[in-house]
Parts: sequence; structure tokens; C-alpha cells
Amino acid sequence: MESEYRFQHRHILGIEELSANDIGFILDTAESFKEISQRPIKKVPTLRGKTVIHLFFEPSTRTRLSFEIAAKRMSADTFNISASTSSARKGETLIDTAKNLTSMNPDIIVIRHSSSGSPHLLAQHINASVINAGDGTHEHPSQSLLDMMTVREKKGKIDGLKIAIIGDISHSRVAHSNIIGFTKMGAQVHVSGPATLIPAGIKQLGAIVCHRVEDAVADADVVMALRIQKERQLDPLLPSLREYATFFGINRTLLKLAKPDAIIMHPGPINRGVEMTFDVADGEQSVIMDQVTNGVAVRMALLYLIMGREER
Ligand code: CP
Repeated sequence: MESEYRFQHRHILGIEELSANDIGFILDTAESFKEISQRPIKKVPTLRGKTVIHLFFEPSTRTRLSFEIAAKRMSADTFNISASTSSARKGETLIDTAKNLTSMNPDIIVIRHSSSGSPHLLAQHINASVINAGDGTHEHPSQSLLDMMTVREKKGKIDGLKIAIIGDISHSRVAHSNIIGFTKMGAQVHVSGPATLIPAGIKQLGAIVCHRVEDAVADADVVMALRIQKERQLDPLLPSLREYATFFGINRTLLKLAKPDAIIMHPGPINRGVEMTFDVADGEQSVIMDQVTNGVAVRMALLYLIMGREER
């Protein structure tokens, strides 16, 4: 990395906007923060006096809690708004919500929304920094960063690896961010899934499409399964979950095609027995819980970097 490199992003809206240098710097920063979560007193004063609002219009366990833990470990004041408790339920628009939040002068807004582009819209109407915690089927940048951190930690590098991403590529913001991110970092991303769940333009993001799941998994260093997103499938794109599990579920037999030291990933939440068998999800090659642990470190790094930008 060049010595004059400076992280200059005010918002984290997508992996698309980040360079390989940005990604490397975020992962380095996250690695240095990981140790804070191992201390008996898991708190540093870095963001004391800063206000972080978590605006979640879709359900979340990992991302929301992980952002909140990250902000609290850095001593920021945190506030949560969910769809069920916000005035969006009374018909308030996202822009009106944004204007009202601006009046309370927060420093960072972390937003998850079912509409693609919502964080970008918010960023245009608010003085605070905006972090995209998942927008529709578009991007999930912090998930992709924690995935890249986990791969780099387990494999010692990203460049030159074969990453297999299996499942619902069409509806997966994790797939989109990861295809862009891993490709920027020099990996080769192979995707596979039912033909109805592979979008036509996915090759333009840099992915290699494999119609046979065996071709995607063969000699892979990383096998990542995606959740089947029943809530985003307006038409019946799959005959049945049982059929999906039979043809695209990750099981021990399929895994034998990957490199012997391949790691198994899943962004969660898992539909056990559909995207992967129980023994694969809980097996020794699984790094799914490491992904969750790294999520806190990555989100600490993002909060720190966008808040420290002006001071730097
Ligand atoms: N990976 C992920 O986004 O999980 P949550 O929906 O629980 O936040």
C-alpha cells in the first residue's frame, strides 16, 4: 500500500465505491481492533461523545447487534429505531425521517432497508455519515468486509483464491458485495445455483457462472452458501426447498470436491438442511462463527475510519 494512502470515505454505501487499498486498510484496521473484544474491559474512548443511530427497517440479528456492540465498545452513544417502532408505520417518508434525524445532529446513521438505494438517498439528505447495513438486493458492504477479513485470516491472503458462492445469487446483496469485493482483491469468484436465481448481468460484476454446482466447488479454497430468501421471491422460482437441498445444498459429498483445507462460510441466518447440512454447518471446516466475531471488529473499524476522516 502506498505510504501517502488516506481513507477518505464519508459514507460506506457499497463495496463498489471502495478501492482495493480502501478494503485492505479497513481489514488491517479491523484486525488491530479485534483484540479489544478479548479484553476484560471491552471499551475504548475513541468515539466518546459521538452519536450513532441504527435505523433498521428489516429484521436483523447479527448486523444490528454487531454494529451496536461495535459502537458501544468505542464509547459512542447509540440509539435504535426499527420499522415497527418508527413513524414510517404512520406513513412518514424516508426523506422526512432523514430530515428529522438531521435535526438531532447524529454523527453516523446505520441503515438497513428493503429498498435498494435507500442508504444513498439518505446520504443525500443528511449531514451525518451513512453506513449501508443491507439495502434490498443491492449491497451489504460490512458483511462482505467481514467475509474478506475471515478469508484473509484463515488463508493468509485473498489474491489468487477460488471462492465458490452457491445459492440465490439474484436476491443476495451479500453475493453482489462479495463478487465485487473478492474480485477487487484478486480472487476468482465462481457462482452457482438454480438458473432462475442467477441474474443475467452477474458476469459483468466479475463472477464466473457455473451451471453445475460441482464445477463451482471443484478445487475451491472457500465455499460460501447463501440463504434462500423466500421473502424476496415474488414468483415461485424454486420447485421446492427439498429439491434445492438435493441439487445445491452443501453436503459432505459435494465438499470432497473442494480443496481439503477449504473453509465453509454462510452470512446467516442459515436454513439448516436446505443451504447446507447440519454436519457441514457445524463441522471443523466451518468458519461461520468466526465471521460473526469478525463482524464486530470490521464495524468498529468502519465507525473509527469514517469518524476519524475529518481529523486526519
Ligand atoms: N448476515 C446478516 O446480515 O444477518 P442479519 O440479517 O441477522 O443481520
